[in-house]
Amino acid sequence: MCGIVGYIGQRDAVPLLLDGLSRLEYRGYDSAGIAVFDNGKLSIRKCVGRLTALEDQLQNDPVSGRPGIGHTRWATHGEPSQINSHPHTSDGGHIAVVHNGIIENYHELREALTADGFTFQSDTDTEVIPHLIARELKKGATSIEEAMRLALNQARGAYAIGVTVDTEPEAIYAARLGSPLIIGVGKNENFIASDVPAIINQVSQVIYLNDGEIAKLTQEGISITNLKGESVKPEIKEITIKAEAAEKAGFETFMLKEIHEQPRVLRGLLAKHVIDDKSVSMNDLGLSPDLFHILNRMIIVSCGTAYHAGMYGKLLLEHLTSIAVETDLASEFRYRDPKFGRDTLIIAVSQSGETADTLASIRMAKERGCKVLSICNVPGSSIARESDGVFFTEAGPEIGVASTKAYTAQLMAFALIGIFAARLREEMTQGEAEDLLQSLSAIPDAIHYVVDRKDEIKTIANKHHDGPSSLYLGRKFNFPTALEGALKNKEISYQHAEGYAAGEMKHGPIALINEYLPVICICTKTEDEVYEKMISNMKEVEARHGRIIAIATDGDEGVAGVAEDIIRVPEMRDEFSPLVNVVALQLLAYYAAQARGTDIDKPRNLAKSVTVE
Ligand code: AGP
Repeated sequence: MCGIVGYIGQRDAVPLLLDGLSRLEYRGYDSAGIAVFDNGKLSIRKCVGRLTALEDQLQNDPVSGRPGIGHTRWATHGEPSQINSHPHTSDGGHIAVVHNGIIENYHELREALTADGFTFQSDTDTEVIPHLIARELKKGATSIEEAMRLALNQARGAYAIGVTVDTEPEAIYAARLGSPLIIGVGKNENFIASDVPAIINQVSQVIYLNDGEIAKLTQEGISITNLKGESVKPEIKEITIKAEAAEKAGFETFMLKEIHEQPRVLRGLLAKHVIDDKSVSMNDLGLSPDLFHILNRMIIVSCGTAYHAGMYGKLLLEHLTSIAVETDLASEFRYRDPKFGRDTLIIAVSQSGETADTLASIRMAKERGCKVLSICNVPGSSIARESDGVFFTEAGPEIGVASTKAYTAQLMAFALIGIFAARLREEMTQGEAEDLLQSLSAIPDAIHYVVDRKDEIKTIANKHHDGPSSLYLGRKFNFPTALEGALKNKEISYQHAEGYAAGEMKHGPIALINEYLPVICICTKTEDEVYEKMISNMKEVEARHGRIIAIATDGDEGVAGVAEDIIRVPEMRDEFSPLVNVVALQLLAYYAAQARGTDIDKPRNLAKSVTVE
């Protein structure tokens, strides 16, 4: 949540800040602002609304200069408004700060600062930070770094901050605790940013700032200290993603591009982990394979779409291995009193690797001596760094706020981990593993098949998008698919949608069904009785005149008499059908959102990376 960019160098900071912010807008987009050193003072431009509103403001009231810091906001404390937009200032505008995170003790800090004569302009928690720095400078701190250190030692909560001070225009400052921040290392210029895509076209090397570190960036160099004032040696890393990966590449939205990328992403994972179509390799997991021998239990923790991936992971791992698996929402897990010991592996699933609740769950598990394996898309992220082992989903930057390619990559990760663990524990024969791997290898083409039929899906979406609500039903492996389909629809089309286990329908939601309600039924062929049960559930919907949209296997006529509309998918093993079925639901939600005229890549009230709880 919230995007930060900062620049120090010889170029005009303004276009660089705007470019960086435009690449970070997925992190928050209810207001934006910049502070630039211009003609001997800090000039601030900020406004409510998207970045385009700030660009308009800059057209009418231009500013240029260097260095500079910028921000795009997802409001936590204080409504989106001009006054609550960042940067926030102190000391008559001499110190400007942009912040991502929450200062939890801001109330008491604000009272103390007010008593000391500081005046607050905004309702934000952030504004305490420039005032704290100003107070430390007044009290005699000998450098900005020292003032920041003393100030931040008083703050509780999470922060990534960028700071510029007009008495020291040859430097900008940054600090982090619990919220992501990177430093882009350039030639005679340096950057700060919340995420790599913001500066990917400017630098090829980055430093991932660690929690509790403060960085001073000048044109020539970077120095880092910790909250005790000790100096820290920066570790410079090469950026591995390509600049084009963060562009739309001719697609109308990032989400549509990312839906189309799924076959390629999954092929990449198969090519990396499957050896000669016979076995799964987990060489670079960072965890000893022996762990899978001794495990009794796994607990999967995650949020949102990643939670749905975790639900699928539970079903699949229990199906393929003898390990007991639980799944929980990270926001619940961290506050309940779960019973687990060292024989439990915690699996954290997260696209961004920065989700606050998932990170807190990892820390809780580690405190109890458990090993943590994360399934994560962002190298260098907090979750990747704090886990004992990481399965990287390697889906490339996912910029559309609604997760698509990261989700199917997470499902593929569970499939590969499941086969790997089952073979290692000798709970699966070589022949069974080869059969499963062969079926998995067909998944990318099956997704292609669905994506190629997007026009048919669009026609169906156009027909059903305008009602107030929709219901998604699925069973067993496709129960999480139903939840995920409903979540996609809600978050981008704003149509209320509910996902349900089809067997639960009679226990309540059947009351919703009438001739107006679209009921999306995931009814692909299975090898057990679930298919027939699903057909029975559909008949119950039909009997109450619900409007059924079925996701059905190509050539299967079982659904033909029941469904009003059918989205066809290729025949697959039921274990892996969610990887393909969900793509049909992603497209259905996508075209419903398009018909309803929403901002698909940046749906209202959301942010891509939820770094506050
Ligand atoms: C997905 O479409 C969502 N926008 C959201 O639910 C997301 O999956 C959730 O916030 C978890 O994010 P993470 O995978 O980055 O941890």
